[in-house]
Amino acid sequence: MLANKEIAVIGSGTMGRTIAAGLLRSGKVDASRIRATARTRASADKLAQELGVSCSTDNAAAARAAAVIILCVKPKDVEKVAEGLKSTRALAHGPLVLSISAGVSSGFIESILGDSTPVVRAMPNTPCLIGKGMTVVAKGSHATDEHVAIAREIFSTLGRCIELEEKHMDTVTGLSASGPAFIYIIIEALADGGVMRGLPRHVATELVAQMTLGAAEMVLTTGKHPAALKDDVTTPAGCTIAGILALEDGRVRSVLARAVETAAKVAGELGK
Ligand SMILES: NC(=O)c1ccc[n+]([C@@H]2O[C@H](COP(=O)([O-])OP(=O)(O)OC[C@H]3O[C@@H](n4cnc5c(N)ncnc54)[C@H](OP(=O)(O)O)[C@@H]3O)[C@@H](O)[C@H]2O)c1
Repeated sequence: MLANKEIAVIGSGTMGRTIAAGLLRSGKVDASRIRATARTRASADKLAQELGVSCSTDNAAAARAAAVIILCVKPKDVEKVAEGLKSTRALAHGPLVLSISAGVSSGFIESILGDSTPVVRAMPNTPCLIGKGMTVVAKGSHATDEHVAIAREIFSTLGRCIELEEKHMDTVTGLSASGPAFIYIIIEALADGGVMRGLPRHVATELVAQMTLGAAEMVLTTGKHPAALKDDVTTPAGCTIAGILALEDGRVRSVLARAVETAAKVAGELGK
């Protein structure tokens, strides 16, 4: 479905760049079919130089040429950008609008763009840059299954992609979109333990990162409950259960779960 579709990436910051770079890296979308925009000429030039895609400050021109428009601006900028696209009639050809903005509902975007505009919300994360992303998509009121399929095809080139109801999007934001930052802190902290025991920092970090990758793959490929996998590595009276008890003393489970809950609550406020 992506074949020969022009894609406009409106907003070329961290996520716009990540999505454009990920699409190119997948080989499914050619640089000539991506038109990106930024607010400033400097950002636009930087992206054009980095990725070899056309990048301007003209949202309407990029949108007019595209079958799929991916809004990648900050939540506070969505209203202004959407109003600009509406007032310039840049969506008169009926493209699919994908929005990755945290806390901004599809209903809000539809209310600006016009009631028949197909909108799909998506919540990707930064590992999309290396093809290991996790994206959740949710259908707006006028989007069809075919629109969702196009969105899923785009984000599947950047990693895994599933569809959920829109009511879950703030939770998804606090979990899989904010989550990489939580995991980086855990990786850094575990590496500190290795450094404390005498390992060089770069060695400790490599050990932890590869271990994290392996543990995540075990969860995904075995389909086992994480608790069962944990039990598999805890020998009675062994070192792993000793480490687990230290984690439990630090209330690691409730602290991590509350981090997701707190991030999700804040995500829900971002578009207001
Ligand atoms: N960061 C994440 O991990 C993550 C994950 C999932 C979803 N998101 C969502 O992704 C969206 C973008 O976040 P980000 O971290 O990529 O933000 P960012 O790095 O600040 O990038 C925002 C981009 O939007 C551009 N922009 C601002 N106003 C514009 C306008 N009127 N027309 C065209 N471009 C405009 C900016 O251009 P200039 O550079 O010229 O100012 C910049 O390139 C947010 O809504 C966020 O909720 C982020």
